[in-house]
Amino acid sequence: MASKLTSKLLQSLIISTLTLIFLYTTFFTINPPFQATPSPPKHSISPQSHCNLFTGKWVFDPTREPIYDSTCPFHRNSWNCLRNQRENMGRINSWKWVPEKCDLSRVDPVGFMGLMRNKRIGFVGDSLNENFLASFLCILRVGDLGAKKWKRKGAWRGAFYPKYNLTVGYHRAVLLAKYQWQPKQSSASGKDESEGTYRVDVDIPADDWVGIADFYDVLIFNTGHWWGYDKFPKQTPLVFYQAGQPILPPLGMLEGYKTVVENMAAYVQREFSRKTIKFWRLQSPRHFHGGEWNQNGSCLFDNPLEESQLDSWFDPNMNGVNKEARQFNQLIRDAIQGTDIRVLDFTHLSEFRADAHPAIWLGKKDAVAVWGQDCMHWCLPGVPDTWVDILSQLIRDSLETR
Ligand SMILES: *[C@@H]1O[C@H](CO)[C@@H](O)[C@H](O)[C@H]1NC(C)=O
Ligand SMILES: *[C@@H]1O[C@H](CO)[C@@H](O)[C@H](O)[C@H]1NC(C)=O
Repeated sequence: MASKLTSKLLQSLIISTLTLIFLYTTFFTINPPFQATPSPPKHSISPQSHCNLFTGKWVFDPTREPIYDSTCPFHRNSWNCLRNQRENMGRINSWKWVPEKCDLSRVDPVGFMGLMRNKRIGFVGDSLNENFLASFLCILRVGDLGAKKWKRKGAWRGAFYPKYNLTVGYHRAVLLAKYQWQPKQSSASGKDESEGTYRVDVDIPADDWVGIADFYDVLIFNTGHWWGYDKFPKQTPLVFYQAGQPILPPLGMLEGYKTVVENMAAYVQREFSRKTIKFWRLQSPRHFHGGEWNQNGSCLFDNPLEESQLDSWFDPNMNGVNKEARQFNQLIRDAIQGTDIRVLDFTHLSEFRADAHPAIWLGKKDAVAVWGQDCMHWCLPGVPDTWVDILSQLIRDSLETR
């Protein structure tokens, strides 16, 4: 009798331990352990997904080929690495992202567009979202060669796919919030050394994307790559306003960033339908080696980085040139907590790919002398094609489980 009771107790102890282990591993699968403060699972991936597409490794597969080429009309010249004859393009496109516990299949443009018939998809943000968009447009075009350039409603660029009545637009809004140049007032005291300021209204979206609330079925937001002292140096700083008044005491760059993301996420939550599928893209990591972009920083790598190298490149504590991506990511995660916006965490998988930037192959003779290497945007075809595979999978998941 006693031994029966003991074995029952033992049994339930084992079961609860196993449950704990299961919960623990699930938690860490969804929230990669490299983040200091993991956010709740519902913000990391679509709640229906049973696996995390954002952790994994790059595996070399020599049979892999890109699905579009240099002739796609939606390229931007400086990212069209095939046309610009970047070295190593075959190798760059032979790496396949393999998530840890699940399969990531390549997007099937025909199947995906069938699902997206009569819909509209919008990207809002800076050139890293445009880089993503260009890949997306070229991939979808494989399923409808009748695709046409499209521009409307404040959109910077986009495409229309007549076979599926599908529209994809990009709204360039580098800070997301409205900002404008304010020259120094001549009546100012003269103590102020600045030439003027950029006024940022943290609670007002930029004109480029106002009025799109009822237009898109899927939206992908980002901002981050303009938030630095090379775009906004001390002489011409960002000054933050809320409800029409300067915020006091004045916010620094990172505080201002967080306030803008919070306000823009709140705006999206308030003005856009619950039915709109919303994503926020985390930062795309840069790979400047040996110096900043204007200090001969370079990215002439033949292979992806090893996992063990990533922290030395990107951990803010290591204080490297490219540390800002992870810093901004934490602010974004905090700022969009509690909204129905999902996180597209492309940072980690992209951190490996020091080999996949346009570098010196920019398609223009003097570009490197003037701008330095481009170790920030990505070659196309290339890494953003994997972002498209993941995005399309997440859109599909959320439509199917609706
Ligand atoms: C095309 O899609 C839009 C929505 O994106 C819809 O309003 C329109 O009616 C569709 N046109 C046709 C011919 O189905
Ligand atoms: C960059 O390289 C050029 C040519 O090698 C050199 O003249 C220049 O001083 C370098 N600049 C920096 C900031 O290292």
